[in-house]
Amino acid sequence: MIWARAEGCRVWDADGREYLDLSGGFGVAALGHRNPRVMSAIASAPVAHALGDLADAAVTAELREKLPWPSKLGVTGADAVDIALRTALLATGRPGVVAFDGAYHGTGLLALAATGFEQFREPFAAWLPGPIHRRPYGEDPGPLPADTCCVIAEPVQGRAGARVPPDGWLETLRRRCDEVGALLVVDAIYAGLGRIGELWPGENLADVICAGKALGGGLPLSAALFVRRDLSTVWELGPEDVLTHTHVGSPLACAAALVVLDEVPGLLERVGVAGRRFEEAGWHGAGLLRARVGDADAAERRGVIVIPAGDGGLISATPPLTITDEELDEAFGLLGL
Ligand SMILES: Cc1ncc(COP(=O)(O)O)c(C=O)c1O
Repeated sequence: MIWARAEGCRVWDADGREYLDLSGGFGVAALGHRNPRVMSAIASAPVAHALGDLADAAVTAELREKLPWPSKLGVTGADAVDIALRTALLATGRPGVVAFDGAYHGTGLLALAATGFEQFREPFAAWLPGPIHRRPYGEDPGPLPADTCCVIAEPVQGRAGARVPPDGWLETLRRRCDEVGALLVVDAIYAGLGRIGELWPGENLADVICAGKALGGGLPLSAALFVRRDLSTVWELGPEDVLTHTHVGSPLACAAALVVLDEVPGLLERVGVAGRRFEEAGWHGAGLLRARVGDADAAERRGVIVIPAGDGGLISATPPLTITDEELDEAFGLLGL
C-alpha cells in the first residue's frame, strides 16, 4: 500500500481508497497527520537547514531551551538510544548494558545490541557491541553485573505488543542501578510524549530519557534528555562534538517539535478517555499504546491501518492522540469489535 495523502487520522492510497489510521505512522503523528499548526510552523521557518553542531538555527536553540532538561539531539530514535548508552559508558567507564527480552531500541548497531528481536540482530551478530546482559521484561533483574554502565528499559514495550510491566518495576530498576552506580535509561521513544498518558514517563526515576517518534511532529528528530543534569558534561570531550550528524537539530523538525511540546500537555486527559475505549474493545496496553489479537492484512482490507506486533498474531494501535470518539466508533465498527 502506497500512501498518497494523510490528514488527521485518515490516509488515502494511490487508488483514492480511504483508511482510518490506527498506526499514527508508527506513533509519530501524535497531533494527527499534517497537523495545521505543524505544517504552518514548517512552512514559515526562516532557516531550513543550519550547521548542525557548529551553528544552531534560532529555532533549534529555542527547542533546547523548551525541553525540560539539557539534551543532546539526534535524528532517529536509534540515535537517541546511542547517545544515552554512550553517555552511560562515558559516565561510568563500564561497557555492560542490561536490556530486556522483547525490547526494541532501533537498528543502529549499538541500539540493535540492546534490542531483543533475534531476526534483527542475527544477520549482524558478528558486529554487535556488548556485553549485553538480557533479562526478562517486567521482572527484577537481580543484582546487576559489576560491568554494568546502565539499564535500558521501555516504560511500556511498543513493538513487542504493548507489554505493560507490573507497578513499581521502574522503581526496582532504579534500586538495582543505585546498588552498582549504573544509570537508568528510560526509552520513551514510543511511550513518551503523551502516548501512555504522561509527557515524560519515568521522569522521577530516570537518569536519561530517550525521546523520538512524535517529537518532530512528522519530521525526523530525537533527543536524549539528561534528567540527571550533570550528565551533559560527559560530552565535553574537546573542541569538536564527537557524536554528531549533518542534520542534527534540523530547524524544520525543531519548529514542528515546538508545536508538539505546546499541544501534547492539553491532550493527556483525552488519551486516558480514548485509551479506556480501546480497553473496552479488548485491546491491552496503556493509554494509546495498544495491542490485541488480530491480523493487520485483514484490517487493511476493512479500511483500517494497524501494525503487526510481538511474535505474530498481535496487531498494535498507536493512533493520533487527537483521535475522536466518532473515529474510534468507525474504526472498531470496521474491525467488527
Ligand atoms: C522504544 C523504541 N526505541 C527506539 C526506536 C527506534 O527508533 P527509530 O526507528 O526512529 O530509530 C523505536 C522504534 O520503533 C522504539 O519503539
